[in-house]
Amino acid sequence: MTPINREKLKELSQREDHKFISEHPKSAELYARARKSLLGGVPMNWMKKWAGAFPVFVASAKGAHFTDVDGREYVDLCLGDTGAMTGHSPDVVADAIAKRVRGGITLMLPTEDSIWVGEELRRRFGLPYWQFALTATDANRFAIRIAREITQRSKILVYNYCYHGTVDESFAGLHGGAVGPRRGNIGPPVNPAETTRVVEFNDLNALEDALKHHDVVVLLAEPAMTNVGIILPNAGYWKAARELTRKYGTLLIADETHTICVGPGGCTREWKLEPDFVVFGKPIGSGIPGSTYGCTEEVAERISARIELEDCDVGGIGGTLAGNALSLAAMRATLENVLTAKAFESMIPLAKRFNDGAAAEIRKNALPWNTIQLGARAEYMFREKPARNGGESAAAADFQLERFLHLYALNRGVLLTPFHNMALMCPATTEADVDLHTRIFAEALRELVA
Ligand SMILES: Cc1ncc(COP(=O)(O)O)c(C=O)c1O
Repeated sequence: MTPINREKLKELSQREDHKFISEHPKSAELYARARKSLLGGVPMNWMKKWAGAFPVFVASAKGAHFTDVDGREYVDLCLGDTGAMTGHSPDVVADAIAKRVRGGITLMLPTEDSIWVGEELRRRFGLPYWQFALTATDANRFAIRIAREITQRSKILVYNYCYHGTVDESFAGLHGGAVGPRRGNIGPPVNPAETTRVVEFNDLNALEDALKHHDVVVLLAEPAMTNVGIILPNAGYWKAARELTRKYGTLLIADETHTICVGPGGCTREWKLEPDFVVFGKPIGSGIPGSTYGCTEEVAERISARIELEDCDVGGIGGTLAGNALSLAAMRATLENVLTAKAFESMIPLAKRFNDGAAAEIRKNALPWNTIQLGARAEYMFREKPARNGGESAAAADFQLERFLHLYALNRGVLLTPFHNMALMCPATTEADVDLHTRIFAEALRELVA
């Protein structure tokens, strides 16, 4: 197996850094200006994380491509970290949005679109009742609140290295077996050890140990982990995990915000999971802010029985703009025309093509890396075998190497997600787009191991 020569990596990274700066003069100029009015020079702090000295400023985007202010064109395999899994601005959604924008955006009154979307979600996921929020974070927070209210318990259970948005209870990790704030956690309201239990994914004994105190409200879980690299469940894991949650009276939230990449009904439908709640945000409105959470008949009955009409606006669930007419129009157009069963038929084979291309290059260069696929999502990882849990996956992270490969791709017209090495396919992605990445990846590895 070929080890990575760190000196070589440093040298190549410096060369790519210079190339990036010299080829993006207009983005550099805008970044210098942005630093005078935007904290850190970016509108949202994660945008600092892109490989390169500053983020590329976008001029326009359509389908699987975008153009930056320097006139450079890119294949977008990040797709707004799933927010644009629909492809950028699908025509049919852009038309529906434009129509809605001219006919009223937000009224705090329902439109018929909300019923159409509720019925479609019911059909896709099998859960009967739905509500809307503006972000997947909020949908998770609201589902947790409902679960806490009806169970009258205190602890939230999550997997080590999970990510469910900026939900305070989920910003916890295991440190030598003990729960504490996750690295990077900014201003936690309380030590998450007070609110949260954390276990490794795919460990049924640990799960049972966490549940058997009978104080766990809910297991908040991605059916397959996607935010510390893709980690698939072991065969039979979810069947057994669901039995354990039922045995100990704990509810289950399936956060399908990323795992919707496996098909129109997410893993819930593909793998016949039986969650108490489903959460789905990001691409549900092709990037127009909106998210949803659905629940079972039983949860609906239990929570309805506890809410008084007089207090229904002060319960900590909802929001003035949640369920607004524009979000719902975008969701309807997206679900009806873009994120359809047919679209997945082309997206999923492209993810396989991405991984086949990457795997062939990894083998050719005898690197101890693997590739892994989840529906329309593909990834290469810096460990020989796929990780079974978050701890294992995080231990294989290599920030320097990751940045080099991302910058190398960016400098040659391919954008990867800024966190780990993930590529997402949208309905407009083509084989040529994927093959461009494969050629660039091959060249990067050739230089790295030379
Ligand atoms: C699984 C999952 N859930 C929820 C979220 C939060 O989404 P948002 O940032 O839109 O609130 C994310 C974001 O990456 C996510 O990956």
